[in-house]
Amino acid sequence: MSNRQRIVIFGATSAIASACARQWVRRGDSLFLVGRNENKLESLMANLRVQSSTGQQIEGAIADLNDFEQHEELFARAEHALGEIDVVLIAHGTLPDQQACENSVPLTMAEMRTNGLSVIALLTGAANRMEARGRGCLAVITSVAGDRGRASNYVYGAAKGMVILFLQGLRNRLAKRGVTVITIKPGFVDTPMTARFEKKGPLWAEPETVAYGIVTAVEKRRDIVYLSGMWRWIMLIIRHIPESIFKRLSL
Ligand SMILES: NC(=O)c1ccc[n+]([C@@H]2O[C@H](COP(=O)([O-])OP(=O)(O)OC[C@H]3O[C@@H](n4cnc5c(N)ncnc54)[C@H](OP(=O)(O)O)[C@@H]3O)[C@@H](O)[C@H]2O)c1
Repeated sequence: MSNRQRIVIFGATSAIASACARQWVRRGDSLFLVGRNENKLESLMANLRVQSSTGQQIEGAIADLNDFEQHEELFARAEHALGEIDVVLIAHGTLPDQQACENSVPLTMAEMRTNGLSVIALLTGAANRMEARGRGCLAVITSVAGDRGRASNYVYGAAKGMVILFLQGLRNRLAKRGVTVITIKPGFVDTPMTARFEKKGPLWAEPETVAYGIVTAVEKRRDIVYLSGMWRWIMLIIRHIPESIFKRLSL
């Protein structure tokens, strides 16, 4: 069997996902890219096609992933373009304005939909397809923010945490069916999402580095990966601070 993979990326124009796409194209894989912004998607696909060789498919579709009605059609189009789907990477997301969410139920619900519910909707469709075939790999970019709720970003954290728990159950279901489920937990990454932060220090990573971690996790069929690895230990400590102390901290 060829080790060339047929990969679908949701949220393909994200800085981290497009870095993954470039690395996968270099290793000879075929891609179906779903992005919301037409110009960004077209330009990403044009760049990837330049790097690709004969036999590699680089196709795509425009979609707002909050429109769940479109998901089935996206899978059908991806299967039509690639033949079969070996790997699904779900990468789209937004970083909510926490304070604005505290004052707006609709905004909070919209953020939960983008960062939580739309991911769960996509996973439900993808999981059933892969389970029926008895193979495949589902990889999802969550966040270290999903490991513990903090005052400064608990709307985002709760949505990511919901996905983390969903993935845990899905992994438990699909492990017996030949399907791998990977939970990817990046720390701070220098991308447009974090444009408003000052990006200095050893906790910050480049999208290419995080993408390399994702590509490797998919190749090695890992379960849970922190990127970079030191976040595993940081979050271990953070998770173990007693709630009676944690609630008094400003984090
Ligand atoms: N950067 C970090 O520090 C960090 C840390 C931990 C986890 N993450 C996670 O990493 C993933 C990738 O983020 P990034 O840092 O690469 O940020 P990014 O470059 O800002 O990418 C976010 C992407 O999500 C897309 N998106 C948002 N809502 C969408 C929707 N309803 N339908 C379709 N696409 C939608 C955006 O599309 P448009 O271009 O159309 O806006 C954009 O391409 C996200 O899940 C994020 O939560 C990031």
